[in-house]
Amino acid sequence: MADNNDFDVADSRREYTRGGLRRADLPAAPQPLFEHWLKQACEAKLADPTAMVVATVDEHGQPFQRIVLLKHYDEKGLVFYTNLGSRKAQQLASNSRISLLFPWHMLDRQVIVLGQAERLSTFEVVKYFASRPKDSQIGAWVSHQSSRISARGVLESKFLELKQKFSQGEVPLPSFWGGFRVSVESMEFWQGGEHRLHDRFIYQRDVADKENGWKIDRLAP
Ligand SMILES: Cc1cc2nc3c(=O)[nH]c(=O)nc-3n(C[C@H](O)[C@H](O)[C@H](O)COP(=O)(O)O)c2cc1C
Repeated sequence: MADNNDFDVADSRREYTRGGLRRADLPAAPQPLFEHWLKQACEAKLADPTAMVVATVDEHGQPFQRIVLLKHYDEKGLVFYTNLGSRKAQQLASNSRISLLFPWHMLDRQVIVLGQAERLSTFEVVKYFASRPKDSQIGAWVSHQSSRISARGVLESKFLELKQKFSQGEVPLPSFWGGFRVSVESMEFWQGGEHRLHDRFIYQRDVADKENGWKIDRLAP
């Protein structure tokens, strides 16, 4: 690797001074805290505050990651949309275990989710697809995501062809497009602290706890 005297990655570090996360401030379930942090990420004008790194594994146990946008969340889980023929969707079809990471490091934070991904119903997908701008709907038709293509021109000519085809009326939902809901089994909140004494709390589903349904532990940074 080339030697770079101007910048040594090993020297890249900073202090995290935005304040901590204390057990007394934690809600009984993770969703309100996630919502609060997401709201603050939006208010802080982070680029793509809803972007999350989605990790799946293939049949050899090889992990893959990519950024995807969160489109909905509630107590049932976190929702994203994608091409059902894509690499991620194929991997999820044979192994539904998934991890999501919200990289809010500009705010000295990250949130890590572990869970199971389940395909959304066609009803839910149609509803969301109908809300997208027309060009994005056409774009979904154009791209057989993660397949090999010879040149960009293939996409551009297909886009123009389909724009013409769908110039009148609504764009139908492609059968190869859909979404997943990630049911949360654990959610870890990481807040950077001074002198590397970061705060980490993990919520884990606890069926034995009838009142709250979540167990909360502090993890060493
Ligand atoms: C900011 C950003 C947002 C993205 N949002 C999505 C998305 O919502 N859905 C999606 O399928 N791909 C999205 N992508 C593209 C994915 O990162 C990825 O390239 C694509 O889904 C194919 O991944 P796969 O081959 O692992 O299935 C996004 C990429 C970036 C950088």
